[in-house]
Amino acid sequence: MTASGEDFTNNAKLLAWVDEAAGLCKPDRIHWCDGSQEEYDRLCQEMVESGTFIKLNEQKRPQSYLARSDPGDVARVEDRTFICSEKAEDAGPTNNWAEPADMKRTLKGLFDGCMRGRTLYVCPFSMGPLGSPISHIGVQITDSAYAAVNMRIMTRMGKKVLEVLGDGDFVRCLHSIGAPLQPGQKDVPWPCNKNKYIVHFPEQRAIWSFGSGYGGNALLGKKCFALRIASAMARDEGWMAEHMLVLGLESPDGEKTYIAAAFPSACGKTNLAMLIPPAGFDGWKVSTVGDDIAWIKPGADGRLYAINPEAGYFGVAPGTSMTSNPTALRTLTRNCLYTNVALTDDGDVWWEGLDGDPPAHAIDWRGDDWTPESDGLAAHPNSRFTAPAGQCPSIDPAWEDPQGVPISAFIFGGRLSTTFPLAFQSFDWRHGVYLAATMGSEATAAAVGQAAIRRDPMAMLPFCGYNMADYWRHWLEMGSLITQPPLIFRVNWFRKNENGKFIWPGFGENMRVLKWIVDCVHNRARRVESPFGFMPRHQDLNWRGLDYDAKTFYHLMTVDRQAGMAEADDQKKLFERFGSRLPKELEVQRQRLIERLDRAPAVWELERQ
Ligand code: GTP
Ligand code: SPV
Ligand code: MN
Repeated sequence: MTASGEDFTNNAKLLAWVDEAAGLCKPDRIHWCDGSQEEYDRLCQEMVESGTFIKLNEQKRPQSYLARSDPGDVARVEDRTFICSEKAEDAGPTNNWAEPADMKRTLKGLFDGCMRGRTLYVCPFSMGPLGSPISHIGVQITDSAYAAVNMRIMTRMGKKVLEVLGDGDFVRCLHSIGAPLQPGQKDVPWPCNKNKYIVHFPEQRAIWSFGSGYGGNALLGKKCFALRIASAMARDEGWMAEHMLVLGLESPDGEKTYIAAAFPSACGKTNLAMLIPPAGFDGWKVSTVGDDIAWIKPGADGRLYAINPEAGYFGVAPGTSMTSNPTALRTLTRNCLYTNVALTDDGDVWWEGLDGDPPAHAIDWRGDDWTPESDGLAAHPNSRFTAPAGQCPSIDPAWEDPQGVPISAFIFGGRLSTTFPLAFQSFDWRHGVYLAATMGSEATAAAVGQAAIRRDPMAMLPFCGYNMADYWRHWLEMGSLITQPPLIFRVNWFRKNENGKFIWPGFGENMRVLKWIVDCVHNRARRVESPFGFMPRHQDLNWRGLDYDAKTFYHLMTVDRQAGMAEADDQKKLFERFGSRLPKELEVQRQRLIERLDRAPAVWELERQ
């Protein structure tokens, strides 16, 4: 009854590649995914029977399932992620590199027979709306039914993709959990391998992922394709693949402005993308185009246009609540998959930070009994939901527009408890590229005292598929290619006071900063020049509905000369890693910051300007 590849496609390259992969991996069966609801339901049901999935209470969470991963397979593995370009310099100092032929040999050894006793699923998928000029097609081969059903939510997947592909080319995404079954061997709920390899061959546009079933390691359309491989494609073809959310802002008189924002992992992209305007913003609407990745291309009018290449959200569950992100919770009412959250006694899900009291009893992410008195967390800190984007109440009407939406501003923001003000604008495009390139963020498990800053340029440190210095050059060049470049801003929602408390309320209140950015875009904003960039004064933000005194705001906006100098000094360490490959412009910008700080008072106060 199983359909063969020829029933799905005449694409000789695809048929040959699937044959070759099957010859290597030696699965018991091959299944071409048609992407239908029936197929999805059947795969989910099979996983319920095999113990991988738990069906949630149909009344509380219709058509939703919970999976618990192996405790050793709970997140992306950056130290096992490789960029195997022909030359080491093309991967650059921030990526792990291995010689491609050597790596292929290693991988072929690992993949040989790795799917014994299992099914090989062929999942054709489109990143971006089917047929959009900005979209690209990939095919994932996987022995994980969990990956296949997640891919159906996260991408446009199935037979219809092959119709669009015709006899064209595609990105080859080969994935195995690396857990073959001997005849008669009993399977486990989350098979995986201790030995993990997430490998990219940018010149061949190919991905080989071994040993993990989790998130970005296994859903290869996301970080592996849409960021690492796509960033290399984008460099070659004159576009951009970025770790950015995209949102729309509509004023009460119907003026629409789209903004893209890059924040490192777990720094609030999903929250910002689904923001609900607070009191004082009557008539304003925020809509969601994407929450994690943007593909951006120059349009004929000299502006940049962005699409969300994904079709779902793979979002962090803990901390998601009716106060922090009601829109996300409303997206999660049905048709979702949950990984590593807690299970309540009535068949619902729970995680730390969800509204209301914790359940008196639950099963934690490891599958053990849990009560509020237990030592450990009920949900893993990186537990996630997989939710169809179309279900999001704030989804933007143009989110599937094949042309994309015009971007008027880029925002960059890390998690920085000191030094960096709430918001400032770059002086121009090149200064903006410098601000983004030097972005830092603190480790989330906040250490005592001065937390170590990890430089995370453009929030792309783990995701740039080539030399970061060349990526910066590409950014600089894009600015001269387009006649109407977006304005560039830095924000910091995370500055703390002496007692370690956040000074800025954040979440919905971030709207106050977004509105100022919109005013800048439409040339209505007053701005003051600071050593870091242009800043809004207190009276330039809308404070209606928030009791936030001017003194605290001005405290949030001070620039400490010594801290600024230390920052400039530390940036040098980043730049030096790239040697002569570093675009000179970035060092020029760093010197200019030092000169501005030299001229500034020891404590530069916005209030006095
Ligand atoms: P990835 O999916 O990993 O790329 O991350 P993301 O950027 O989408 O992360 P997410 O939105 O899930 O980040 C959630 C974390 O950011 C939680 O710890 C939130 O409490 C925190 N967060 C989000 N917005 C704000 C804010 O405005 N202020 C503060 N203080 N924390 C915030
Ligand atoms: C991230 O880590 O930035 C994510 C989650 O968005 S994952 O897809 O697992 O990489
Ligand atoms: Mn991400």
